[in-house]
Amino acid sequence: MLLLLLLLLITPSTLASECVPRTFQGDSFVCVCNSDYCDLPGVIKVPAAGSHTLITTSRDEHRFSIQNGSNDALPGEGSSVVVTLNHQERFQAMMGFGGAFTDATGINILKLTEESQEWLMKSYFSPEGIEYNLCRVPMAGSDFSTRPYSYDDVEGDVDLVHFNLTTEDYKYKLPFIHRAQELAERELLLFGSPWSPPAWMKENGMFNGSGGLLNEMWQPYADYFVKFVQAYSAEGAPIWGLTTQNEPLTGFQDWRWNTCAWTAEGQRDWIKTTLGPTLQAAGMRHLQLMVLDHNRDALPWYPATILEDPESNQFVDGVAIHWYDDDNTGPEVMSELHSLFEDKFLLYTESCDGWDAAPGERVILGDWYRAESYAANIIDDVNHWSTGWVDWNMALDIDGGPNWAYNFVDSPIIIDEKSSEFYKQPMFYSMGHFSKFIAPGDRLISSTVSSGYEHVRVAAFQHGSTDTASTIVLLNMGEDMETVTVDVRGSQEFVNFVMPAKSIVSVLVNMAATAH
Ligand SMILES: *[C@@H]1O[C@H](CO)[C@@H](O)[C@H](O)[C@H]1NC(C)=O
Ligand SMILES: *[C@@H]1O[C@H](CO)[C@@H](O)[C@H](O)[C@H]1NC(C)=O
Ligand SMILES: *[C@@H]1O[C@H](CO)[C@@H](O)[C@H](O)[C@H]1NC(C)=O
Repeated sequence: MLLLLLLLLITPSTLASECVPRTFQGDSFVCVCNSDYCDLPGVIKVPAAGSHTLITTSRDEHRFSIQNGSNDALPGEGSSVVVTLNHQERFQAMMGFGGAFTDATGINILKLTEESQEWLMKSYFSPEGIEYNLCRVPMAGSDFSTRPYSYDDVEGDVDLVHFNLTTEDYKYKLPFIHRAQELAERELLLFGSPWSPPAWMKENGMFNGSGGLLNEMWQPYADYFVKFVQAYSAEGAPIWGLTTQNEPLTGFQDWRWNTCAWTAEGQRDWIKTTLGPTLQAAGMRHLQLMVLDHNRDALPWYPATILEDPESNQFVDGVAIHWYDDDNTGPEVMSELHSLFEDKFLLYTESCDGWDAAPGERVILGDWYRAESYAANIIDDVNHWSTGWVDWNMALDIDGGPNWAYNFVDSPIIIDEKSSEFYKQPMFYSMGHFSKFIAPGDRLISSTVSSGYEHVRVAAFQHGSTDTASTIVLLNMGEDMETVTVDVRGSQEFVNFVMPAKSIVSVLVNMAATAH
């Protein structure tokens, strides 16, 4: 009996396990995983009525530290920060969080032992991990490949008889997609994004540089999308959505890596005359078709040009956004776009840190600022209609590659081939504070922070299936600890707690009674 109790206590599926910290050049630490060990938060369920669970990550100490408590009848005395939720004001339903199955991700995971690979996949996808459910799949090569390529590099093959998936799909993408599907409790939603059409379909005959799709290739390229969806489906990786082109505006410059130039008018006309009808004829209208897949500075004009045309509008479901211009363009443009086209969803489909850093700092092991930048951006985006947030590479090497164009960046998981370990960066926990605790279907609700506390940011969500449970994610960017009161329903029920300096806290709260 005692043994049974002990066994129950150490079951890893229900209990959180501790981070094994290591410090490098960053101001915080990474958690080290190897064949034998990896920290997992465990299964964390909505707490019983009248109680809450706090999950804390901080620069100096915590990684998913868990604390249970009962809700209070009064606000904390002298609380510095008061967060007020309004359950009556509900906004968009969330679709999910995740990362991208790039070639680089697969190449790096394969450098680990099988046991380590399993820890990594569990960390991202299992109910004991951070439960990613919405992932991007580059259609053929991106810059995070070891070569530029497409699914049909036979010049002039307009009937696509030589179309085929590549070694990269079979070795670096599909095996990990399959493992993720097996591990995930939530349905794994996959969306494809092309970086470049086959080079022979383009004006400049190259994957990179400056140039768009040749006019006579509009139909073959639409057929190429259909073949991609069919091929992935045939391999047991059904596709949920598509973006029409990764970063279409980069193709007007002499770009270093795979791209394709598209004006908004060009996208509008291609979708309405060719891509939309071709997907429909193939029985693929149910796929979530997203346009833009580029920065905020193209809002609202670029998607608006496409959506103002009723014929192209009918084929488009959402607008995909990247974060690389967010320092220059505020989130108000997202609200503006939403108010123009209320039936189209917004989704952040690619972001990463280190892309504009000095050569030696593309990867910074243990950097807290990058974790904070993820959390601040996610909170800002979901409070302006984004239905989720998809990170870029799920695993990179110690330099932030491989990348055939040497465009190295950072990632939530960094693999150290020399020591056969992988490191969970602070960014990994930052993603997890959202991805694990906000389920698909949960709705954003209104939340406000007492004035004078701009360094505290909040996003709050009502659980889809219940009227009483919510998740609140808070970010403290300040150097001081804060005493926080969350006023759960505007009166009568409160969660009082302390937020460490430089920390992220997810609060799962279940009210004693239904809010009215
Ligand atoms: C918190 O409560 C849950 C049950 O709601 C329990 O499974 C878990 O072990 C508790 N965790 C801590 C740290 O007390
Ligand atoms: C496609 O690729 C797979 C795996 O490399 C190979 O087995 C198959 O024969 C190829 N098909 C064609 C039509 O080239
Ligand atoms: C495009 O890629 C080729 C390699 O395929 C490279 O030699 C060339 O420099 C790239 N172009 C630009 C503008 O970087």
